[in-house]
Amino acid sequence: MAAMSFARPVSHRRLPNASCRASRAYPCSMSPPPPTSPAPSPIAGLQVPAHALVTGASSGIGLAVVDALLQHPGMARVVAVSRSAEHSPALVALASRHGQRLLQVSADVTAADDRARIAARCGPGPLHLLFNAAGMLHGPDLAPEKSLASLDADALASVFALNAFAPILLVQALAAQLPRDQPVVLAALSARVGSIGDNRLGGWYAYRASKAALNQLLRTLAVEWRRSHPQATCVLLHPGTVDTPLSRPFQARVPAAQLFTPQHAASQLLGIVAGLTPADSGNFLAWDGSAIPW
Ligand SMILES: NC(=O)c1ccc[n+]([C@@H]2O[C@H](COP(=O)([O-])OP(=O)(O)OC[C@H]3O[C@@H](n4cnc5c(N)ncnc54)[C@H](OP(=O)(O)O)[C@@H]3O)[C@@H](O)[C@H]2O)c1
Repeated sequence: MAAMSFARPVSHRRLPNASCRASRAYPCSMSPPPPTSPAPSPIAGLQVPAHALVTGASSGIGLAVVDALLQHPGMARVVAVSRSAEHSPALVALASRHGQRLLQVSADVTAADDRARIAARCGPGPLHLLFNAAGMLHGPDLAPEKSLASLDADALASVFALNAFAPILLVQALAAQLPRDQPVVLAALSARVGSIGDNRLGGWYAYRASKAALNQLLRTLAVEWRRSHPQATCVLLHPGTVDTPLSRPFQARVPAAQLFTPQHAASQLLGIVAGLTPADSGNFLAWDGSAIPW
């Protein structure tokens, strides 16, 4: 994969304190820091090397985020989670390049035992970035609904289990590793189609509703964290339409210029993450930093 920086998107709402964060690698300067300087962090305000956990790490956007994070000198370790993480050829290749900076954990984030195992594999922490990319729109026996007639209780339950419930339950499982006295960012991939205010086309009942539920669950966490984790930031991010297995069956009418590569999406999203402060917590933002209506 091509080398990436955390360059910020060019046309978007400016996030607070973002002026010096156009490139987190070399903030406010055109030249790199001297070799003896501590590595800069991809998390605003973090004074120590960052530790991250990425779900959905074997494919699409999550894989590109893992790759981009590992290229960042301020990243001490990335925990890469998916059901196939330990056998994913792309993650195995990254591990051979980055050694112990990458920890692969094969786990199903919808299963409580697996979430506990993820927490155990992470060790005592702290974790500074939790990037949730695991999600589903379709599967072997599951297609997004075109109309009421195709609604199915089991399909609704499995889409909600992964898209809505797993991210917040993973935060619960990782509570001991999320610091109260250091900056920490929880970024979860939602989707614009999860916006209730923006829903004019209909269809995709389970996916839309699961992302709306994800939004509400993490917005609620953001309110709680204002008191308990004052340095924490919790955001919902829409990556745009990205060329991945999730979107591939639905790309026919997407203009080429609006279909992003996973690498481009990861760069945009990590650019947003690098500029976030706790004042941004609870927001639902698009890939270009613009706010999306709930
Ligand atoms: N692509 C788009 O255009 C688009 C647009 C808007 C929003 N999004 C959102 O962006 C996120 C990433 O999507 P993507 O396009 O990168 O999808 P993707 O390429 O299909 O990747 C999905 C990832 O989730 C993992 N996963 C699935 N079920 C899991 C489970 N039960 N436990 C753990 N990991 C699981 C998969 O790995 P394993 O199979 O190894 O478990 C895979 O790594 C999703 O939340 C999606 O809703 C995508």
